[in-house]
Amino acid sequence: MIRVCTVVGARPQFIKAAVVSRAFREAPDRYAESIIHTGQHYDHGMSDVFFSELDIPKPDHNLGVGGGSHGQNTGRMLEKVEEVLVAERPDFVLLYGDTNSTLAGVLAAVKLHIPVAHVEAGLRSYNRRMPEEINRVLTDHASSLLFTPTDLATRNLAGEGISAGKVLQVGDVMYDAALFYAGLAERNSGSLARFGLAPKGYALATIHRPENTDDPMRLRGIFTGLEAAPMPVLLPLHPRTRKQIAAFDIAVPASVTIVDPVGYLDMVMLERNAALILTDSGGVQKEAYFHGVPCITMRDETEWVELVDAGVNIIVGADPDRIRAALARSITTVVPEGQLYGDGTAGTKIRDALQP
Ligand code: UD1
Ligand code: UDP
Repeated sequence: MIRVCTVVGARPQFIKAAVVSRAFREAPDRYAESIIHTGQHYDHGMSDVFFSELDIPKPDHNLGVGGGSHGQNTGRMLEKVEEVLVAERPDFVLLYGDTNSTLAGVLAAVKLHIPVAHVEAGLRSYNRRMPEEINRVLTDHASSLLFTPTDLATRNLAGEGISAGKVLQVGDVMYDAALFYAGLAERNSGSLARFGLAPKGYALATIHRPENTDDPMRLRGIFTGLEAAPMPVLLPLHPRTRKQIAAFDIAVPASVTIVDPVGYLDMVMLERNAALILTDSGGVQKEAYFHGVPCITMRDETEWVELVDAGVNIIVGADPDRIRAALARSITTVVPEGQLYGDGTAGTKIRDALQP
């Protein structure tokens, strides 16, 4: 029996972990998973909703570490994850993405000489001011097994001298999730009716990156740009952005409706039926593509450059003029069929690669 300890803490990690966790449960004679939730995200709509909707087992350990500065947050998590790992001594620690929970997990595990498997390895923005860039570089270099989603991610690791023997390109677990949950979302989500939206009659937006939320000029610029959308905009809003809009006293245009964060099935339904998606999220850029919707990325760069190369994603920063121009262009963009992110079996490939 291979014992895997998964460390998660933030919204996108619950969605990614749901895929691999299901794969473990399909092979109960070979794998036992225990889940540590650091508590980085703690509101019901940022955490619990995903566990119940996506049928993720209740975490075995909830560390209750949320909020605070990066140092406080990561430091407290490190201390508490270490305690659990000392008690559990798993064969692998499984980590996702690039959050502070990922960094705490990798530091705790490697110093106890527990091999780390990193899902979504090899992504780079080459912007070291992003906390995620530091987290992902450190995690990749300390991991024993690195699961990459794309050709570029695999090449990035080779370029940094990481041995090819540790790297396995499996595709993107978020694509597995998109395929698995699309039908369920269609059947179970009443989000269009709830928000009074017509299919292809609205744009969907998300904003949560600190470079946007913590800079009043950029945050204002984004709302000025959103006002130019030729249709209503629905904005399920991350709590940090809600706080910053209030703190900077930013005027939200009447065409933009702010709602609380939605669950994954509602989000999938909203994405599939949107005419356009505007976001600074990593995951949402890819989901736009999975569901055939053009995307405008309100950042200065992206890790998912293949989407830009394919002409389905436009990078606009937080500049209202660039947002306006991209809105005019994207509305006629047709997202081609085809897959840049594997074949939807990343979850089982990751599971099967975890061998003694
Ligand atoms: C984190 C990740 C980011 C990821 C995002 C996904 C880091 C450095 N960043 O950013 O990579 O894209 O999650 O959503 O790990 N808050 C609440 N309730 C919650 C969660 C957060 O009110 O349930 C507020 C708190 O004020 C908190 C702030 O949001 O201090 C920021 O939360 P944090 O987890 O530090 O960063 P995110 O912006 O969510
Ligand atoms: N998401 C969601 N509800 C929302 C906003 C996002 O379920 O209100 C999902 C989204 O579909 C994607 C994931 O959260 O699967 C992306 O997470 P987020 O944007 O918070 O983080 P990032 O991907 O940028 O790290």
